[in-house]
Amino acid sequence: MELKLNFIEFAARFDKIIRKQILKLHPTVPIFLYSYSRKLFLKAFETNLNFEQTTPPEHLRQTLWDIEFRSPIFNAAGMFKKGAGYETVYKQGAGAFLAGTTTSKPRSGNIKKGILHPFIPYAETESASNWMGLPNEGHSTVAKRLSRIEKQKGCPIGASIAADVGVNETEIIAGILEGFELYDRAGVDFIELNESCPNVAHHSTTQNIIDSDISSRLAIISEKFLKKRKRNLPVIVKFSNDIEIETIPSLIDLLIELGYDGINIGNTSTKYDYYRQFVSSDDIKNYDYFTATFDGGLSGKLLRANSFEKSKYAAEYISRKNLSKEFYVVRTGGVSSAIDIIQSQQSGVNLLQWFSAYFENFSKYGYSLYAELYRWL
Ligand SMILES: Cc1cc2nc3c(=O)[nH]c(=O)nc-3n(C[C@H](O)[C@H](O)[C@H](O)COP(=O)(O)O)c2cc1C
Repeated sequence: MELKLNFIEFAARFDKIIRKQILKLHPTVPIFLYSYSRKLFLKAFETNLNFEQTTPPEHLRQTLWDIEFRSPIFNAAGMFKKGAGYETVYKQGAGAFLAGTTTSKPRSGNIKKGILHPFIPYAETESASNWMGLPNEGHSTVAKRLSRIEKQKGCPIGASIAADVGVNETEIIAGILEGFELYDRAGVDFIELNESCPNVAHHSTTQNIIDSDISSRLAIISEKFLKKRKRNLPVIVKFSNDIEIETIPSLIDLLIELGYDGINIGNTSTKYDYYRQFVSSDDIKNYDYFTATFDGGLSGKLLRANSFEKSKYAAEYISRKNLSKEFYVVRTGGVSSAIDIIQSQQSGVNLLQWFSAYFENFSKYGYSLYAELYRWL
């Protein structure tokens, strides 16, 4: 067991050392290597429990929607697509566990140029691109897995749900509602509705959400699920980080009116031209190749300023509304440090999720990554 622990941390640290050299090769080589190796790594990572337990400092504990979160930070959706890994993140010290995203029908995800679930890190830019296409086993398999987890105090379980693709609107709604019901029965504590994945055809990147299919879908879900909830089960809606800042107030008004409980800003970005100016010269070759070949979503440090600005704007808007019900802002995108958490909390953001920097920090601190973060909070 000791050997296994050492191997996973060693593999992450070793990768950090050689990553810059690998990324200098023709883009097809690192894309191939990282697309496959990250899956092998995650499989070993999520089942390993042989490391020291971290307990977040008591002052980080908060109760939102009547649910206790022992810390404001936890993994973003997509990290534990199968819903395995709860015990691992609990032991690391995470504030919650988010499974999925799942769809009603299982999806095999995207494949192009012989590469399944294309992914590439940009080492100098501390960012990444992926074009996974929501591979997942479907709501029912993952809900069953979540129902068997032995939940720990202060570490609630969330499930992430998205619409099926390539079916008509009636089937989309039926698939989403099926997901809500299955996860409700599985006993999860909160649900995140993913309205923002750029890697599946037909998801809007939300420029015109208010006038789009999404808003009528949100209304139907409200009628058929939210208003019929028999227990405390908050539902957050996750939008893209590309959401226009001006639309945030009307979006929040709509969510509140329909009975949703929070907003997550947000998912990956497809603003390749805009973010290109911030990409390190060492990464530009891979960035141009990946975005031209696969499109995909950008994640990591590139999104930090944007997710901070928009989540702060959302939180300030909510605080001015003097709401009688609880409605919270979750920030995702480039979150990497204690400073991020402190600044976001000071702006009124209650929860934060991380993905890219989680792995960056794992390569530095191994399983103590949350402990390292908490030293500064
Ligand atoms: C490889 C990969 C897979 C992802 N899969 C999902 C997903 O299934 N559902 C989802 O809502 N977001 C998914 N995301 C987006 C992340 O949850 C997150 O919103 C985004 O990466 C920005 O956060 P970060 O800058 O901390 O990485 C994925 C991101 C990456 C890099």
